[in-house]
Amino acid sequence: MILIIDFGSQYNQLIARRVREHRVYCQIEPPWITLDQIKALTPEGIILSGGPASIYEEGSPRVDPGIFDLGIPILGICYGMQYMVHALGGEVKKAKKREYGFAELQIKDAGGIFHGIEKKTKCWMSHGDTVQRLPRGFSITGSTPSTKVAATGNFAKKFYGLQFHPEVAHTVKGKRMLNNFLFRICSCMQTWTIKSFVREAVQEIRSLVGDKRVILGLSGGVDSSVTALLLHQAIGNQLTCIFVDNGLLREGEAEQVKELFKRHFKLNLRFISARRQFLKALKGVMDPEKKRKIIGRTFIDAFENEAHELQGVEFLAQGTLYPDIIESRSAFGGPSAVIKSHHNVGGLPRKMKLKLIEPMKHLFKDEVRILGKALGLPEDLIWRQPFPGPGLAIRIISDVTQARVSILRKVDAILLEEIRENGLYKKLWQSFAVLLPLKSVGIMGDRRTYEHIVAIRAVTSTDAMTADWAKLPHSLLGRISNRIINEVRGVNRVVYDISSKPPSTIEWE
Ligand code: XMP
Repeated sequence: MILIIDFGSQYNQLIARRVREHRVYCQIEPPWITLDQIKALTPEGIILSGGPASIYEEGSPRVDPGIFDLGIPILGICYGMQYMVHALGGEVKKAKKREYGFAELQIKDAGGIFHGIEKKTKCWMSHGDTVQRLPRGFSITGSTPSTKVAATGNFAKKFYGLQFHPEVAHTVKGKRMLNNFLFRICSCMQTWTIKSFVREAVQEIRSLVGDKRVILGLSGGVDSSVTALLLHQAIGNQLTCIFVDNGLLREGEAEQVKELFKRHFKLNLRFISARRQFLKALKGVMDPEKKRKIIGRTFIDAFENEAHELQGVEFLAQGTLYPDIIESRSAFGGPSAVIKSHHNVGGLPRKMKLKLIEPMKHLFKDEVRILGKALGLPEDLIWRQPFPGPGLAIRIISDVTQARVSILRKVDAILLEEIRENGLYKKLWQSFAVLLPLKSVGIMGDRRTYEHIVAIRAVTSTDAMTADWAKLPHSLLGRISNRIINEVRGVNRVVYDISSKPPSTIEWE
C-alpha cells in the first residue's frame, strides 16, 4: 500500500485515484498520524501531498519527520516537496512570482521518477514558494523557465520531490511519473482489485459481526444498495434492510426497490410505508431547513420503530464513502459544504446504541459503481443520478401537500423519460423539476387557465461542489415543455433554470 499524507491540497483525492488506477491500494491520512501508526500500515511508499500553506507560516501542517528514517521511498508533491526539503535541512523561500498553469519541464536526470520520459515535457504548476537550497544528498532533476528546482531527488534514499502536480491530467507524463514511483521505486504489486476488495471485506465483516444481526437503511441509491449487497454476501440473512417509503420519492421508485431487493436478490427487506407520517409532519412547513430536520427525524422514528422489533441487533451499516471520511476530518477547510448522502441517518447509531459498519469507507464513487456491477446491480441503478434524502419535498417551493407531490412526480417522470430517451441521463449530473409556489395565466383550448409554474433544472458537474447549467437542445426543451403542459393537470408554464453553482446551488431549497 501507499500512504498519502494529506496536507490539504484540492488534488489529494486525485492522487489516490491515480494510485488506485494502477491497482495499488492507498490510504489518505492526516499529517498528525503518528509514526507508530504509519509503521503499522507498512506502506511501500509515502506520498506527501500538496497544500495551500506556506512552510514558514505558523501552524503549517507537518508530519512526524521520523518518516525520513524509515527507509521507505517518499515522493513530495508541491508543498509536500517543500516540507521534505525544509525538514531535511534545505531552504524554501517565497518565489518572486507565483507560478500557476502550464510550464515546460526540462528534465536533467532521466533516472528514477523520470524513467522513459522525454527531456522536455509539459507540467502543471501551482505554487507561491520555491526551493532555494537543497538538503545534502539531493540534486536538481528538472527545471522550468521560472523554477530552478522543479524536481529534485536523493536517489540513494529514494526521496523525490516534484514542485508541479503529476496527478492532474495537464501534466502530460504525470501518469508515467506516478507509475515509475509505484513500480520502479517502491516495487508495489498490482493486487488492488474489486475482487480482492470483496474477498477481504467479506472476511472482515464476518469476523466483526459473528452471529449478531445488522440493520441497514436502504434508500435505493447506489451507496446503500451496494452496501446491502456486500453485507448480504458476507452474512446473508443476518442483515435486515429497512426501506422507509416517505412518499417523497420519484415515480415507481419504492416499488422498484421492493422488486429488486426482495424478489430478485432475496434480501431480508422490511418495507415501511410511512407516507402519511411524513405528510402530516410536513404540514404547513415552508422553511427548507425545517423540512430537512423534520424529514430526518421522522425517518429516524420510523426506522427505530421497525428496528425495535428485531432481536439481537448490534450493528448499523452505512454506505459511507471515502470522500466523506476525508472531507469530514480535513483540518484545512476541505469541501465541508458537501452534503452527505447518509446524513439522514446520522443520529441513529448513538440513539440506538449501535455499532457502525461502513464497509465502503475506503472506496471512491467510481469504485463503488464497479463493485455494484460485480455484485449484480442493474446498470440503471448503478448510474442513478444523485437524489437528495429529503426527496421531492425540497423541490416543492412551499409547504408539501399530497396534491403538489403528485404534480411534481408526474412532471419529474416526463422529464426523466425524455432525458433518458435522448441519451443524456448519464451525461448529466442531475436533471429534475421544481414546483414553484406561483401560478400564472395561460390559455388552453378556449379557456383561460391559472395554474402552476414548474422549473426544469439540468446540470453538469463532477462532484456537486460546482455545477454548470446544461445546454440542453432547444428542441428537447420544447418537447419536455409541451409534454408537461399537455400531460400534467395543474401546470401551464415551464421555465428553464440557467444558473450555475456558484452562486446558485443545484437544488432550489
Ligand atoms: P446543492 O443544492 O447544495 O446540492 O448544490 C449539492 C448536492 O447535494 C444534494 N443535496 C442533498 N442530499 N440531503 C441529501 O441527501 C439533502 O438535504 C440535500 N440537499 C442537497 C443535491 O441533490 C446535490 O446533488
